Amino acid sequence: MTKKTHAGSNPVLELKNIHKAFGGIVAIDDFSLDLHAGEIVALVGDNGAGKSTLIKIISGVHAPTAGSITLDGQAVSFSDASKARSSGIEVVYQDLALADQQSVYMNMFLGREKLKAFGMLDRRSMIEETQQLVDELDVRIPSAGAIIRDLSGGQRQGVAIARATHWAKKLILLDEPTAALGVAETAKVEKNVHALKERNLAILIISHSLDQVFRLSDRICVLRRGQQIGVRETAKTDKNEIVSMITGVH
Ligand SMILES: Nc1ncnc2c1ncn2[C@@H]1O[C@H](COP(=O)(O)OP(=O)(O)OP(=O)(O)O)[C@@H](O)[C@H]1O
Ligand SMILES: [Mg+2]
Repeated sequence: MTKKTHAGSNPVLELKNIHKAFGGIVAIDDFSLDLHAGEIVALVGDNGAGKSTLIKIISGVHAPTAGSITLDGQAVSFSDASKARSSGIEVVYQDLALADQQSVYMNMFLGREKLKAFGMLDRRSMIEETQQLVDELDVRIPSAGAIIRDLSGGQRQGVAIARATHWAKKLILLDEPTAALGVAETAKVEKNVHALKERNLAILIISHSLDQVFRLSDRICVLRRGQQIGVRETAKTDKNEIVSMITGVH
């Protein structure tokens, strides 16, 4: 596969000098990254390195202590995740964030419910669209009406990914999307991530699987204990270099 170069194109997302502390703990110290349309950047690092925190800063769950976030050239500061969503940013969180007591289709349209006249929920239309989407993405669930708490971990992850895929307009942030998945399901998700790249979205994916990172990404960004260790073009690095950046052992 040919890798695009991004020289001259404006980044979809620009993070400049992002800093985040929780009380006395510095979770992110001076992080800067540009992300372009049609680009997959993998964010790697050991447990507690600050990866999820960074995604939550971009999506408005956490406010950065310092630094700036620019979306399509405009400074943004989302006060909550729904603001980020209305700007075209979708997230698959590590801790999933689905409504457990609700059906798959209600989760798919959470906060964006389809209504009929008189403000009634248009359930039939939401069910049809959900069914079409999960079929397209080959997410195996009993039905669009199944309740989330009755699904397996992998099925829930499939639903979360389908939802993000459906609504993302500019940027999609995936926090270990295949951590709970088997081999076949993982391959499907990787195929879908590639399809998002073809749709010209910008993609930031967190993964502990370096095989996956090397299969999917254009660039790899390494965090260690909140420090940004470096960014490499995937084609110009190898697992040994990335492992030593992650661990600090040479
Ligand atoms: N809401 C919070 N309040 C206090 N500390 C937090 C909070 N969220 C994260 N942290 C701390 O920030 C650091 C980074 O956590 P984060 O969840 O971003 O790590 P991570 O790189 O995603 O790790 P993992 O690979 O285990 O998911 C950790 O030390 C964690 O304890
Ligand atoms: Mg995490």
